[in-house]
Amino acid sequence: MPTVLALETSCDESAAAIVRDRTVLASAVASQVEEHARWGGVVPEIASRRHVEALPGLIARVSAESGLGPGDVDAIAATAAPGLLGALLVASVTGRTLARLHGKPFLGIHHLEGHLCSVQLGEPLPPGPYLVLLVSGGHTELIRVDGPGAYTRLGRSHDDAAGEAFDKVARLLNLGYPGGPAIQAVSAPGDPRRFPLPKGRVSRPEGGFHPYDFSFSGLKTAMLRLVRQLEQDGGPLPVADLAASFEQVVAEVLVERSCRCAVDQRLNTLVLVGGVAANRRLRGLLEDRAARDGLHWRVAPLPYCTDNAAMIAVAACERLAAGQSSPAGLGVAARWPLERAGELYGATPCF
Ligand code: KG4
Ligand code: ZN
Repeated sequence: MPTVLALETSCDESAAAIVRDRTVLASAVASQVEEHARWGGVVPEIASRRHVEALPGLIARVSAESGLGPGDVDAIAATAAPGLLGALLVASVTGRTLARLHGKPFLGIHHLEGHLCSVQLGEPLPPGPYLVLLVSGGHTELIRVDGPGAYTRLGRSHDDAAGEAFDKVARLLNLGYPGGPAIQAVSAPGDPRRFPLPKGRVSRPEGGFHPYDFSFSGLKTAMLRLVRQLEQDGGPLPVADLAASFEQVVAEVLVERSCRCAVDQRLNTLVLVGGVAANRRLRGLLEDRAARDGLHWRVAPLPYCTDNAAMIAVAACERLAAGQSSPAGLGVAARWPLERAGELYGATPCF
């Protein structure tokens, strides 16, 4: 069973973890959320600088907690794509340097493969192919997983990611950043049926709709119109009802299309991962609907839904088990399709 030190700095969380197979020996995350909150979103230059400051301390912390330094693990891994280039470089350069210094293999990991692997940090998955709903700040995708590294995308958002919609609507309601936890916090006493909102559908050129695709831009515009109308009408904004109605429609759309996809494709397990998977209403709806449709369901453990390095380590363990490691000169890429994650382990660097 390999032991891996993994580093993650693709966006606004700096993270380090030491994982043995699927057991987390130590995991540490330093969030920059408060700093970016002032600007209403992630400022790439600030993110890179904070990663440089935070990462050495995080590595020292997980080494002390696990009693294992970079020289004691079997491999060193870092997120290589996709993400903010300057931010990605911090973990990548640090990881490659440590690997070279200690004579260990280095693995560049696709960030979304990390999210897919986060579910393995919880209860073991039933065998067989399964469907993953990946919902984060940058992605909303339905991915069929046939085994380690074997991914087929079956659905996606054509505009905003679900997390991005949470962030934008939270800004509209003056709830701060990141929007998901802020909306969840105020929505609990709200009436989720008070405001009917659109469940954005994506048309097909040949007619009808993409059954497994998503669109959140119409919903965002509907929220904007609604808020402007309520402001004109005067009186305090019914923030709890607005937040609950928004959260409800996003959760319903995600759950309905994912379950339909799983049933149509005869995949009897549905897995929920990514930052938005932390959402209580979404988890609750998924549980109800999956039971109705006779689907097994799994969701990543709460601490590993949002960005972390433990999930990157699990992905690295799977790649190592397949005899893979990255070429020494592997760089970083802002965009890279998940289906091509295997190219991170070719003989020559793919980027
Ligand atoms: O996976 P993640 O940490 O980073 C990316 O790879 O994007 O996801 C961050 C996203 C943000 O948009 C944030 O608002 C959302 O996840 N999020 C939530 C919740 N916690 C985080 N959305 C809804 N409900 C939550 N409880
Ligand atoms: Zn992420």
